[in-house]
Amino acid sequence: MSAQIGVTGLAVMGANLARNLARNGFTVALHNRSVARTDELLAKHGDEGDFIRTETLQELVDSLEKPRRVLIMVKAGAPVDSVVDQLVPLLEPGDIVIDAGNSHYTDTRRREAALAEHDLHFVGIGVSGGEEGALNGPSIMPGGSKESYQALGPLLEKISAHVDGKPCCAWIGPDGAGHFVKMVHNGIEYADMQVIGEAFDLLRSAAGLEPAEQAEIFGEWNKGTLSSFLIEITAEVLGHVDAKTGKPFVDVVVDAAGQKGTGRWTVISALELGSPTSGIAESVFARALSSQAAQRKEAQKTLIGNEADIAVGEGFVEDVRQALFASKLVSYAQGLDMLTAAAKEYGWDLKLDEIASLWRGGCIIRAELLKDITAAYAGDSKPANLLFAPAFTEAIAEAVPAWRRVVATAVQLGIPVPVFSASLAYYDGLRRDRLPAALTQGLRDLFGAHTYQRVDAEGTFHTLWGEDKSEIEAVDSH
Ligand code: 6PG
Repeated sequence: MSAQIGVTGLAVMGANLARNLARNGFTVALHNRSVARTDELLAKHGDEGDFIRTETLQELVDSLEKPRRVLIMVKAGAPVDSVVDQLVPLLEPGDIVIDAGNSHYTDTRRREAALAEHDLHFVGIGVSGGEEGALNGPSIMPGGSKESYQALGPLLEKISAHVDGKPCCAWIGPDGAGHFVKMVHNGIEYADMQVIGEAFDLLRSAAGLEPAEQAEIFGEWNKGTLSSFLIEITAEVLGHVDAKTGKPFVDVVVDAAGQKGTGRWTVISALELGSPTSGIAESVFARALSSQAAQRKEAQKTLIGNEADIAVGEGFVEDVRQALFASKLVSYAQGLDMLTAAAKEYGWDLKLDEIASLWRGGCIIRAELLKDITAAYAGDSKPANLLFAPAFTEAIAEAVPAWRRVVATAVQLGIPVPVFSASLAYYDGLRRDRLPAALTQGLRDLFGAHTYQRVDAEGTFHTLWGEDKSEIEAVDSH
């Protein structure tokens, strides 16, 4: 018996993907650096499907049907390179090496190019849904060559989540496109969680609603336009009571948010692409600020708030819901805008409707909203920005009054709402007829002769600031 796919790296994610594949009828060869882990998996779950136990990468490779498919699930970075380096000499042209970890897309681009030299396919796939998703149906974002997808796609589509009978898996584009899209998914995930956090803080600090009461509210919100996995689990976390102290669970957790790095990568890429991903950026910075324990402690003693003494009215909860919805929409708009910029930069033909569709199930940002986002990009005329799709133009317009009230209230009360407010600033920035960027250009021209363009003439100009302030046509802009 030969295996249809091999999995190396059997920590929880790798083990769960292997089990998912086996449960779906594929024969899976297993390998792990320490054999004990392979045996543990077989002892616990060996009866879930057909597994082949291997002790070395050579044995793993030998157990596979051709073209071989080897899925690597090890820590992103050097460990991936190490496994790839060991695998390459064992493989034959046409074989497929799959990296299912959260690798940086530039590493994936590099590895894809390097393996192509050996006539091997390197496929970076984004896998979302955590441990549970990996086992029962994740959202999968595969990159790599289209050719490799023919051999790999059917397996991935089978094990992925399905929504309305459609797999939450589709070929994203060549080389690092899959990992790029997964990275942006995580950026949106950060922003989604931060706006939920801001809503929680506002409801508690401004409206005095305790976590248990908020669990009810989030539960209700989950029935409407906000319906999503993250809102659902927010209700669960807020409703949880710490067994040791009897206090709300959120009150016994240290308020310093960790991060493994994908959100940060999203923002770095956004900066490189010149894509204004301010909501996602603020969500990454909010985690960073939360972790500055010493400075926060000192600030609490020394920095003065001078907050206004105002009370919130009856409609506040609904206002917060609308502000949360509008800010969430902006995060998606910014993430998708970034995908558009990356597609242009890297020559990827990213299909935003397919991407939105495969985010509808299995992944952390799965949300009702993604159905409408899919629809917004499905037609022939693609909106240049998600917010320009008529359904969303209307939806956000409805939320704007509440959104402004909430941000204004938060500012007056000294409650930080970095993503609510950055998203609103983005919305207003886009809408603004004249931006102060004209003044920035003037300043740049004065101190650095950086030149500017005029509203009323073609060409590039420079004012002789240090002389008679006459204007000349500039040859080069820099
Ligand atoms: C997913 C998640 C996952 C990510 C965790 C932790 O899509 O399943 O994005 O890939 O690793 O959410 O991320 P942070 O530690 O950066 O919050």
